[in-house]
Amino acid sequence: MKEKFKKSNQLFKKVSEMIPLASQTFSKSYLQYIKGQAPLFITHGQGSKVWDVDGNQYIDFINGLLSVILGYQYQAVDLAIKKQLKKGINFSLPSPLEYELARLLIKLIPCAEMVRFGKNGSDVTTGAVRLARAVTEREHVCVCGYHGWHDWYIGSTARKLGVPKSTRAMTHSFTYNDINSLKNIFKRYKNKIAAVIMEPMSYVEPKDNFLQKVKSLTNQNGALLIFDEIITGFRYPLGSAQKYFKVIPDLATFGKSMANGMPIAALVGRKKYMKKVNDIFYSFTFGGETLSLAAAIATIQELKKQKVIQNIWKKGRYLQNKTNQLLKQNGLGDLIKVQGKPCWQVFIISDTKKYSGLEIKTYLQQEILQSGILWYGQHNISFSHTISDINKLLLVYKKIFPELRRLIDQDKLKEHLKGQPISNIFKIR
Ligand SMILES: Cc1ncc(COP(=O)(O)O)c(C=O)c1O
Repeated sequence: MKEKFKKSNQLFKKVSEMIPLASQTFSKSYLQYIKGQAPLFITHGQGSKVWDVDGNQYIDFINGLLSVILGYQYQAVDLAIKKQLKKGINFSLPSPLEYELARLLIKLIPCAEMVRFGKNGSDVTTGAVRLARAVTEREHVCVCGYHGWHDWYIGSTARKLGVPKSTRAMTHSFTYNDINSLKNIFKRYKNKIAAVIMEPMSYVEPKDNFLQKVKSLTNQNGALLIFDEIITGFRYPLGSAQKYFKVIPDLATFGKSMANGMPIAALVGRKKYMKKVNDIFYSFTFGGETLSLAAAIATIQELKKQKVIQNIWKKGRYLQNKTNQLLKQNGLGDLIKVQGKPCWQVFIISDTKKYSGLEIKTYLQQEILQSGILWYGQHNISFSHTISDINKLLLVYKKIFPELRRLIDQDKLKEHLKGQPISNIFKIR
């Protein structure tokens, strides 16, 4: 039999010698995939599909880590990029496209009165925190969720290697839906907290007016509230979680889906704070790169024109409900839940007495990949997913959930794993 991942595995060997992790992004790396049984490199994508280096085709339910919302090679966005490409990429002075995109964002996002751009989400979360420190003349920050790879945040996680202790001492994590965990930090660091930065929602719903309470507590204590909308932005109805939940922060950050895969992010907020960006240093060579600006403008126009957010929520809700139903029908409802809003759903898998959640996830991935679906435990819906794509995934679930139940009951799961299980990056949400 032809080895299905021959080229992937060969390339991986060569690449690992030259590129640490053999990937630029943790979540795209081999650590997220069952060893030897998964594709490791993609050559191209079209609509909802991608092709690996061995020529295998997949329906992609990862979508560039949520950066692709319309689909691969989406015509309106690609045309805008090509049109701009003919004029030039990165100039010596700002481009008028910056103004055009800023205007669009200010119209859409409630807290946005001024805007600066970045390339990755980490640029703008770091910019927001530096700005809040400058505005409040305080140094400590509270965090809840994932906010990127820079020292001030990643030092508060298990991946803190290389971050100075003095930096780590200034970041404090609080627990989502636990207002007392935030209150305690404010008490302990009285008049020292510059900002509270948080994902307004990941896969857990805010309970008991949590977001409103965070806002009141933060502002009463003289700190700025920053919503990290890198994921929720442009996936939630009307374009942002702040609009959806009707809680308006002082500053907010956007990225991911904003330009259908092109590298651009945005730091937005109240004018009285954003004006201070003039005084801090927030500046980089590719900050106003025009292909991404053109892509973002085209993406946002398309999101509005095609009612994309309604579309992905409708398809996502159908997939989520049917998946949870199938889990229940197969006696897996207590073990596995698909949580989150329909636009971004996460498989929450508990450990059993015998097997870890990661081993169970690995088995699911192994079987799902075999059916031509790229999967790592999330449903990241795009406009290009068809109902037939979604039904194909449901059909695979229908086939493998009873088998998973049987293997767990008969203590046979491990012997059915064809490769080393996925390893956890670190638990952040
Ligand atoms: C909520 C959130 N904030 C910030 C980031 C960092 O963005 P980037 O990886 O583009 O730097 C991410 C990335 O996954 C994210 O999900």
